[in-house]
Order: sequence, then C-alpha cells, then structure tokens
Amino acid sequence: MSNITLHTLAARKAAGEKFAVLTAYDATFAHQVSSAGIEMILVGDSLGMVLQGRDSTLPVSLEEMVYHTEAVARGNQGAMIMADLPFMSYATPEQAMQSGAELMRAGAHILKLEGGRWLCEATSMLAERGVPVCAHMGLTPQTINKLGGYRVQGRTRESALEMIEDARRLEEAGASMLLLECVPTVLAQEITANAGIPVIGIGAGPHTDAQVLVMHDILGITPGRTPRFVKNFLAEGGSIQGAFALYAEQVKNGSFPASEHGFE
Ligand code: KIV
Repeated sequence: MSNITLHTLAARKAAGEKFAVLTAYDATFAHQVSSAGIEMILVGDSLGMVLQGRDSTLPVSLEEMVYHTEAVARGNQGAMIMADLPFMSYATPEQAMQSGAELMRAGAHILKLEGGRWLCEATSMLAERGVPVCAHMGLTPQTINKLGGYRVQGRTRESALEMIEDARRLEEAGASMLLLECVPTVLAQEITANAGIPVIGIGAGPHTDAQVLVMHDILGITPGRTPRFVKNFLAEGGSIQGAFALYAEQVKNGSFPASEHGFE
C-alpha cells in the first residue's frame, strides 16, 4: 500500500469509497494492521483501558501517548497515523499546540481531540500551523464524568441540532476530519452528508465515510460485555491477519456495520 495521506482519504470521500480505521498501540500490530489494507491506525487513549486495565481513559498521560505513537510509527507500513491528545492535554489552545507538537514529533500525521465548538480556536491554530485535526464528537470518553455514563448522544432534537452546528463550525475552523461515536444513525448520516471532510463513525451506523473500532474488540479478547457496534472478526477471519483483512474488506464493501450495529 502506498502512503495514505489526507488527500487520499478526501478523494475516497469524494468518490463515495469507504475506508477503514483500527486502533493499534505497538510496532508489531501497527505492521499487521497497515499491511492488511487498513488505511488509518488510531493510537487511541483507549490504551488506558485495553493495555493498562484502567476503567476510563482519564489517567492516560501525554508521555504514554508519545511512547505508543513512536512504537506504532516504527512498525507502520504506509497507513495514516492518528494519535489522541489525552485528557487535559489540550485544555487551552496554547496547551494543545505544545502537546500536539510532541505527538507529531513522535510520528502522528493527524491529532484527535474530543469536543465540540469549544475546540474551534485550538483547531484553527493547529491547522494554520500545518497540523491536521480530527474532532471527536458524540460520546466523548474523556468527559464521561460529565456525561454520566457511556450513552448514545444526540438523541433529542436540541442535542442533535447542537452536534450538527458543532460539526459545521469545526469544519469551518479547519478540522480535516470528524469522528462520531455513539450517535443515532440518521444524525450521523446527516452530518456526513453535510460535511466536506471525511467523517469516521463508531456506533454511528453505516452511512459515515469510514469506520473505526478498537483492535481488542474485533479480535474478541476484550473482557466482559462489548457494545452492540462491535463485531468479532477473528471468528470468521481465522487468524489475526485474516481478521484485520476481513474488517477492511467489510468496511469498504459496506457490509459492516450492518443496521443492527447502529442506534436509533
Ligand atoms: O481511544 C480510542 O480508541 C477512540 C476510539 C474508540 C474512537 O477514541
């Protein structure tokens, strides 16, 4: 696979072709994921839960994100690398610039920040200085204490309109991508149709431009109950490499996610 860039992914959206995103946190899995035709690796702060056994992403530090981003960059075979700015590392635009610089130096190609319109200033400052931003909206795990639980967001008319407006403002501020987590399928469809930039979904139904899942979830090794938007690809894929390739194939041909993986 030749190197995937923002232009590659923008062209996919324009052509109506979907792309796949999967988390990875180390060099070996980054090698496997990027060799399986998955266009983008997310070095997610979900590592706090799946690697460190914590019960939320809040304790993950910037140093830890730098460490894992460097490891992923060493193993990567041409995928685009997106790295999460962790909790409270972008509370002000200036802090976002400093924290973001560390992750870009570690090998990230795009940064993911959780939030709505309050991120506009940081987004435009980063974008103007050549740092692409993905704005993560809907269920934002870093604000779990305020949200009061891992729940679907944007179900009321008021909150849906607010999310549509957040998406519009963030794109106008210079965001290069949006990510929608746990939002009703019809709302994700509307935001995706209105956006001029690629929209990645997780628990957001089949109409977004791309899908992301946590690697441990698609391998079926996450302890306990998994959310309804998760599918175990290892069972059908037969091997880890087979699971990654099957995930990429089903995202691109539109057979994953199916309607049962989304929310009303
Ligand atoms: O940290 C992460 O892995 C994420 C995905 C669940 C979208 O943000």
